[in-house]
Amino acid sequence: MDHVARINSLGRAVPTWAVYIHLLLPVPLYFYMAATGGMGVEPINALERKMGEIALQLVIAGLCITPLRRFAGINLIRFRRTLGVLAFTYLCVHLVIWVLLDMSLRWDQMWADILKRPYITIGMAAFVMAVPLALTSNNLSIRKLGPLAWRRLHKLTYAIAVLGAVHFVMVQKVWETEPLIYLVVIAVLLLLRLQLGQQGRARA
Ligand code: HEM
Repeated sequence: MDHVARINSLGRAVPTWAVYIHLLLPVPLYFYMAATGGMGVEPINALERKMGEIALQLVIAGLCITPLRRFAGINLIRFRRTLGVLAFTYLCVHLVIWVLLDMSLRWDQMWADILKRPYITIGMAAFVMAVPLALTSNNLSIRKLGPLAWRRLHKLTYAIAVLGAVHFVMVQKVWETEPLIYLVVIAVLLLLRLQLGQQGRARA
């Protein structure tokens, strides 16, 4: 059996609940580390950043599923929803840490930050876009919207990824390489997507 066939049969064997459990484990683990001194001198900020980083990684992993199938024959399509729902869960944790632990429910301050701090504005815009995607990540919504409209709506994932990566660039005090790498990866995935779209139109 070649590598692709092996990955595909592994993909069929792994239940999605196992993926949920494994990829959710970092949440309690990092909270525990933050509470017990394992995350440096600013544990709340470190925790907030970690949850944002994992959320963005999961968004990107979700975007890799279609090109992996089309260009490499690796079929992990069963896990696309899992990755999307997990990404949204991490975004919610990221937001809850900001609201409760970072801003301590100071709503005036939060509104001011959303309006005046561009990186918060961008992060919030990405989060707002993610809400309809999370709400429609179920079979009933696909049936109600129809596959075409559903697919069109879920293209928002690209915008969320770009805004998330720009937000990541902007939270740094100086230009850092890591967020720029995320941006490049997202740009490549977007280009692949556009190419797939063109191929589809050419075939039609
Ligand atoms: C709900 C709205 C959001 C708020 C209020 C928010 C807020 C924050 C804050 C306060 C930080 C830390 C900044 C600092 O250390 O000074 C941060 C970092 C970060 N956020 Fe967000 N964020 C939001 C949405 C998002 C979204 C949608 C994504 C990704 C899709 C994201 C990904 C990240 C990443 C990757 C980091 C930096 C992680 C690192 O430094 O390793 N955030 N965010």
